[in-house]
Amino acid sequence: MALQNPFFPVKDDTMHVERIALTSIAEEFGTPTYVYSAGHIRNQYKQLNDAIQGIMPEGRSAMICYACKANSNLAILKLLQQEGCGLEVVSEGELIRGLKAGIDPQKIVSTGVGKTNQEIRAQIEADIYNINVESLPELERISAIADDMNKTARVIFRLNPEVSGGGHHKISTGRRGDKFGLMKDDVFKAYDMAKGMKNVQALGLMIHIGSQVSQVNAFDAAFSKLPAIVGELRAAGHTVSRLDIGGGFPVKYTQDDQLLDLSAYANWVRDIIVPLDVDIALEPGRYLVANSGVLLTRVTDVKEAQGQNFLIFDAAMNDLLRPAMYDAYHEIAPVQNHNAPETVYDVVGPVCETGDTFTRDRTLPRMKRDDLAVIQTAGAYGMCMSSNYNTRPRAAEILVDGDQYAVINARESYDDLFARESVPAWL
Ligand SMILES: Cc1ncc(COP(=O)(O)O)c(C=O)c1O
Repeated sequence: MALQNPFFPVKDDTMHVERIALTSIAEEFGTPTYVYSAGHIRNQYKQLNDAIQGIMPEGRSAMICYACKANSNLAILKLLQQEGCGLEVVSEGELIRGLKAGIDPQKIVSTGVGKTNQEIRAQIEADIYNINVESLPELERISAIADDMNKTARVIFRLNPEVSGGGHHKISTGRRGDKFGLMKDDVFKAYDMAKGMKNVQALGLMIHIGSQVSQVNAFDAAFSKLPAIVGELRAAGHTVSRLDIGGGFPVKYTQDDQLLDLSAYANWVRDIIVPLDVDIALEPGRYLVANSGVLLTRVTDVKEAQGQNFLIFDAAMNDLLRPAMYDAYHEIAPVQNHNAPETVYDVVGPVCETGDTFTRDRTLPRMKRDDLAVIQTAGAYGMCMSSNYNTRPRAAEILVDGDQYAVINARESYDDLFARESVPAWL
């Protein structure tokens, strides 16, 4: 069943993005193409921002730092920057993107278990708000680099809360044994180490437990030990003035998926986090962009074989990896003919892997060769995880804003694909 989304209305039996028909986008730009709704992104940001700022005490605000790993297109970063959003980055590339989009470095935080020296240097140089430290050896490197640059590195420590959160084991990040963060004892060690570091300022803690966390209870469990830890740290003379409470807010992949009750979450922040008297940062990724995007694709063929109907799209696992990588479920809908009789399909791409299957045994309105379809909830972890597997150029990206639309990433050409390859003279 297609996901209902007011930013993707069906008019005259044709799905639109805001006021633009997806048929005209396909005609003008071809397929496969990612198409995003600017209005939906703004709406998501506003909902979260209003909920959180609404519970902050007078004169205080929380900083929303978009986890741009979800979708790092420059136009989307610019759009969010205009809304006042900050950024969470996990690589030098993402930092460069954020700065290019005009995001204030004092609204940028960085995470990641394997920050290279070059990345740390770039973050200190840019004077970002803080670096979220993931290990003791990393803290030593940050200190050495800050000394070498004679600049201050502001850091907070990522605490591994030993809690499982998230919709899939590959996106759960807060369990004992996961590669992320520091165990509690190491947080105390890190603070002690930082005391002896001339150019490191240790300011607080960060917890991110995973993605698609739909229950306030899961956040509550992850943060349950925090007030005591903050108390112990302060009693030991350490500064805990910042707390980054991570991302992980869920979105709908099916109509029945449970969303986080934002007002209950905001009340939890008010009751549990605000009393800690810290500056609060949040790192939503998927929530801001996932339902804002669809992957527009055309039916190459319908193949009947072995008693099955294979609906073969021109989009493939190289365009949208999530089904192959996480067994992720995405709704699929035709762009037109929504009331056609239903058929059960295995929906596949053309890549030479059985894993290039978007779904099996899905009941959909009947489609035929050259029909258009969308894979929904594709705005997050879609284009940014795409590849050139099978020497397939990457899809185009289009942003729609009311009745305006623009290419925000041109479809790759074959020349683009070969641009950095060369054949040695001896061959
Ligand atoms: C440290 C950190 N922050 C934020 C996010 C964003 O998560 P989500 O897209 O589920 O909000 C992630 C996702 O991997 C992450 O690792």
